[in-house]
Amino acid sequence: MNLLTTHARNDTDYAIAGFDWMAPIPIDEFWEQKGPFWVDLGAGKGSFLAAAAEAFPEYRFFGVERQLSRIRKINRKLNRMSLTNVRLLRAEIYYTTRYLLPPESCDGFFLLFPDPWPKARHAKNRLVTPEFLDAMAAALKPGGVVHFATDNEPYMEWAMERWTQHSGFRLLPEIPGEMLVAQTDFELLWTEQGLDIHRFAFQKSAP
Ligand SMILES: C[S@@+](CC[C@H](N)C(=O)[O-])C[C@H]1O[C@@H](n2cnc3c(N)ncnc32)[C@H](O)[C@@H]1O
Repeated sequence: MNLLTTHARNDTDYAIAGFDWMAPIPIDEFWEQKGPFWVDLGAGKGSFLAAAAEAFPEYRFFGVERQLSRIRKINRKLNRMSLTNVRLLRAEIYYTTRYLLPPESCDGFFLLFPDPWPKARHAKNRLVTPEFLDAMAAALKPGGVVHFATDNEPYMEWAMERWTQHSGFRLLPEIPGEMLVAQTDFELLWTEQGLDIHRFAFQKSAP
């Protein structure tokens, strides 16, 4: 019996547990394989995470999501696909990035369709802040990449401004292939509604 598989199923529980929440996670203990380490921040219903893990079996993927119902949904999906290179964490994104990911451990982040908080008075809730970019830069290996996508133009402009002002990143002229394996669940929704999708990739600059 565990957090994600409370019924009489023999499902694997992909959520990591039993680590110290006050220290960086010893990631090598939770993945059976070595290989590039990619983190999906706000994995939602997990279609993109699962598709990326299937497309890149030599990579390790880590899905971070705060909603338990969504973590459960992803867990069911990963079981159906019998994936072995993914783990999950039910946690808050900034805390995970700042405190739980070891320094220079990540090859890349996906930050895909983060909540846009469109009202001006809610903009303070947006994830893309200088402090968050500092945390991502610290967790990335040199040359590591962040994929960002949004359907929300004001958030795109807000995020772009903060990223281009941050000395730790440079905007890549082309989107690297990892991003192109699948559409995310929210991307499908917005595309069906005819909304434009804005996507960028930023690379951690050399020190
Ligand atoms: C708009 S959805 C996008 C999900 C997915 N990336 C996609 O494109 O389909 C944003 C997701 O991020 C999660 N989320 C938002 N803020 C978060 C935070 N601070 N910590 C953890 N998860 C968060 C939400 O619960 C939601 O599942």
